[in-house]
This record gives sequence, C-alpha cells and structure tokens, in this order.
Amino acid sequence: MRKRSPAVRAGKRAAPQNTPAGQAKKKAELRLGGAESARPSSYHFFNEPAEVSLFRSRLLRWYDQSKRDLPWRTVAMTETDANIRTYAVWVSEVMLQQTQVATVIDYYNKWMKRWPTVQELAAASVEDVNEMWAGLGYYSRGRRLHQGAQKVMSELAGEMPRTTQGLLKWLPGVGRYTAGAVGSIALGLVTGAVDGNVTRVLCRLRAIGADCTSSLVTDLLWEICNLIVDPERPGQFNQALMELGALVCRPKSPLCARCPVQTHCHAYRKVILIQETDAKSPLSNPDSVQSPCVPDIEDCSAGDSSCKLCLSEGWARDLGVQNYPRKPVRKAPRVERMVTCVLRCRMTEDEDEPQYLLIQRPSTGLLAGMWELPSILLEEDIPGKKHRALLSAEVQRIVGTSPDEDSFQYLGEVVHIFSHIHQTYVVYSASVGGSTERDREPQSRWVSASALQEAAVSTGVKKIMKLYYESTSKLQGTELGPKGFFTVCPFQNKKQKRSAEARRSQRTKRTRNREDRAPCRGLKQSSLSQFFTSSKPAST
Ligand code: ADE
Repeated sequence: MRKRSPAVRAGKRAAPQNTPAGQAKKKAELRLGGAESARPSSYHFFNEPAEVSLFRSRLLRWYDQSKRDLPWRTVAMTETDANIRTYAVWVSEVMLQQTQVATVIDYYNKWMKRWPTVQELAAASVEDVNEMWAGLGYYSRGRRLHQGAQKVMSELAGEMPRTTQGLLKWLPGVGRYTAGAVGSIALGLVTGAVDGNVTRVLCRLRAIGADCTSSLVTDLLWEICNLIVDPERPGQFNQALMELGALVCRPKSPLCARCPVQTHCHAYRKVILIQETDAKSPLSNPDSVQSPCVPDIEDCSAGDSSCKLCLSEGWARDLGVQNYPRKPVRKAPRVERMVTCVLRCRMTEDEDEPQYLLIQRPSTGLLAGMWELPSILLEEDIPGKKHRALLSAEVQRIVGTSPDEDSFQYLGEVVHIFSHIHQTYVVYSASVGGSTERDREPQSRWVSASALQEAAVSTGVKKIMKLYYESTSKLQGTELGPKGFFTVCPFQNKKQKRSAEARRSQRTKRTRNREDRAPCRGLKQSSLSQFFTSSKPAST
C-alpha cells in the first residue's frame, strides 16, 4: 500500500478570511447583529474546547471501526499523487451530490477505470461522458466534470487546484460543500463540509430547529463544522460526520442507542428528559402530540421564545430526535403528461432484429444531450383519441414516413418522478417498414436493442422500454407480436430462447456485415435485465 502524502496526514488550516468558513462566520455575525449578539446561544454551539476534543475522538474512533470501505476513500488514503487524488475525490463528490453511495460505487469504478486521470477525462467526448453517466440522474453533473477537466487542462496545465478557493473558482458545479469535501479529503485542508447528512447530524446535536435551508442556519452549521473539524484528520472527520448521518443518525429510524456521540446530543437529551418527566408524573397525557414542558435547564439559554434557532412550532412528542432538522414545506412538483412511442423499424425485409428510433434532446436544460423516444407534451384536455394522430405527425416529421394512425398500439402508462416534475408517459408502439434516411432528422438515430441499452438514455426511457418488452412478450404468438423481436427480449421462455438462438446463429454472418453500418457498432451486448437494473429510480 502506498503512503499518503504529508498534506493528507497533517491538516493545514485554510486562512479563515479566504475560506468559505471565514466568510460564513462574518455573514453570521452580521445577520445576528454585531459582535455582542453575534454568538448564537451557547446551547446551539460548541463552546468548550474539552467537549470538542472529546467529540472528535469519539466520532473518529467510531469511524475507524465502522466506516464502509468505499473506493474513493481508498484512493484518498493510498494515492501519493495529489493531482490524481484530487481528481478522484472530485469525481466521487460530484457523483455523490444527489445520488446514494450504493448506486455510485459501480459508476465510480467504471468511470475511474475508463478515465483514471483528469487528462484522460478531458480528452473524452461529451457523448461518451453522457453514456457513462446514463442512469445516475442529474446529467449536467457529468458534463460539468468533463468541462472542468478541460478547463484544468487548458488553463491550469493539467494541475488540479490545491485550495478551496481554487476549486471554487476553476471547477464548474463545485460549490461550498464540494470544495470543502475535496479540499479536506484529498488535500488535507482544515475546512468543514456541510452536506445533507451533516446538516441533520448537527441540527440534532445542537437542537437547531429553525428552517435548516435558511442562511441563518446554514451559516451557523458551517461555523460549527469549521470549528469542530479535527485539524489532524480533517477529511476523515468530515467523512465521519457524513457516515454517522448515513448509518446512525438517519432521517428515519435513527439508531440513537448506537450513537458514539449520544452524550453530546441535545435532541437525544430532550427525548430522555421528557421520558423521565413522564415517568415521574403519571397524570401527563401520553397521547398529547405537543409537549411544551421540555425542562428549562436543558433548554436554550435564551430561556424564552425569542431564540431564532429553537423550534418555532414546539416539540412534537411522537417525532423524538426527528424534530430536527426542520425544513420548509416543498413546492408541489409540476405535473406533465406526455405521449410517447416505441418505434420499430426493419432496415430490410429479411432482417430479424429490429431497430428503435431515438432522438437527442437539446444541449441545454433538462436531460441535456440525452437520447429519448419520440414524445409530445400533452396540453390539458387533449383526448386519448388524438394521441395516435399526434404521434403519427411527429414520426412523419422525424423520419419522413409514418405508420397508419390505427397501427399505433396502446401499451399503458409509465410514471416517472423528478424532484420537481411528476411525469406520466402514455406509451404506444408502432412499426415502420423502412426509414428514408434522406428525410430523417439529423438529431435522430436508429439503434438496435443492444445499442439502446448502452446509449445515454434516461431512467424514464428505461421504464418505457421495460413496459414495451413486457407488453410485447404477452403478445407473442399472436398476430400482433412483432416478428423477430424476441431475439433479444429478456422475458423469453426456454423454447422461445432455443429457437431465437437457432435463428441467431443462422444470422451470424449477415449480422456481422450489418454491424459495420449499424449506428452504434462495437458496443458490447449485455442482457436487457441488466439494463433495467442499472438505473436509479426517481432521479433521472
Ligand atoms: N457523501 C458525500 N461524500 C461522501 C463520502 N466521501 N463518503 C460517503 N458519503 C459521502
């Protein structure tokens, strides 16, 4: 195992005025009204150096024993080249921004295998980057990594930035959190990193009940984090807080009994005190949801309702430590209804394996540059009987020919939820005999089932294809069943599989020739069930 660099072993505290930490402190002071009132109530802060030391050592001891082995952690600990280390941690942090650790691991390993250095990523094509990102969601993240790598090559001679300021300045999509995480984990800079997990942990530890998305609270959390971060092991300390949030101090069903810093937690203390008070006064009503009588001595030293950091709506008995953090009520997602079509085509009469039509989305906005099926946004009140006509016109526009309206076959509906849009696809399928390449829109392409599987398509498209495969497998043997389709369908029974294999081996020679002119040649064929399981639901 290679040794870690000195920068990682002994942390360097970043100059306070120039760090996100310094700025946060100044802002918090201003907002809380000058030097005297700048300090939040000591109840919501860590004031005692001895408590901070104890907190660090308990948290880090737990982390050393309980942390998950994650590939980016190994790189951060073993890679001696600071440039590679910074690149590798940057990639992991961007992937982890809106995606769960379990989903990221595979993507991360594939990414680092393909582009182990910033130089190699910079030389990749946008299309390759999109394909690699397919299924991870929030696609602009992949493109920003790519743009960042190109910037590092063109403007920094291939050297990744080495300060939080540099990371913020040079890398698109890197904000305060990512700069803090990369700076501390890869470069050993002594700075906090406040993400969603850390927010929850700190709000519970210090009973911060004000809106955790407000700048009053976020600035305070940064101030706390910058104060308590371990100067000897800043990256591991930050990851330990994140890990505690992921494994113990979970959003739901927190495991307080297993928490290594339970004795530092104000939220937990409140729960225990209320239980003790209830036990002493048998007349208290256990069903009451609101309990205004959390004992004063353990409460915020403001001692009245004027504290802007305390719970403004009181303590909900049934929530326990989950009273923290408090979030504002989310805006309802936009509701959209789309009509879409899986369009099949056989390039020649005797061709068994169909091709499917994909269209590329614009290069900016939602799912920029990704590939999708022909789709139309349905305005309100468009009756179902108009769907086929709409699809037929759209297909005509894209490929220069279209099946009869009546041959569009209704398959069902697919719901796909983004954080801000609730989409329902009304799904049809249809076949065209052959495409007139001359008239086909340049932003479209015909792909085989296996190429579709590898293409940069969103999770929504994967769900639609799943419905398509399921529906067409039910039609198998009927005159509506698409001939030749089952050569790649993952839902075949044994007999169908055998005959498909026999047909496939007969076709091998023909196929080889055809592969040379296929739109996505050279792509490996893996199973379609793999295709369906490689996606992360509800984020793409
Ligand atoms: N979430 C964000 N960064 C992380 C990390 N380094 N380890 C685990 N979870 C994370």
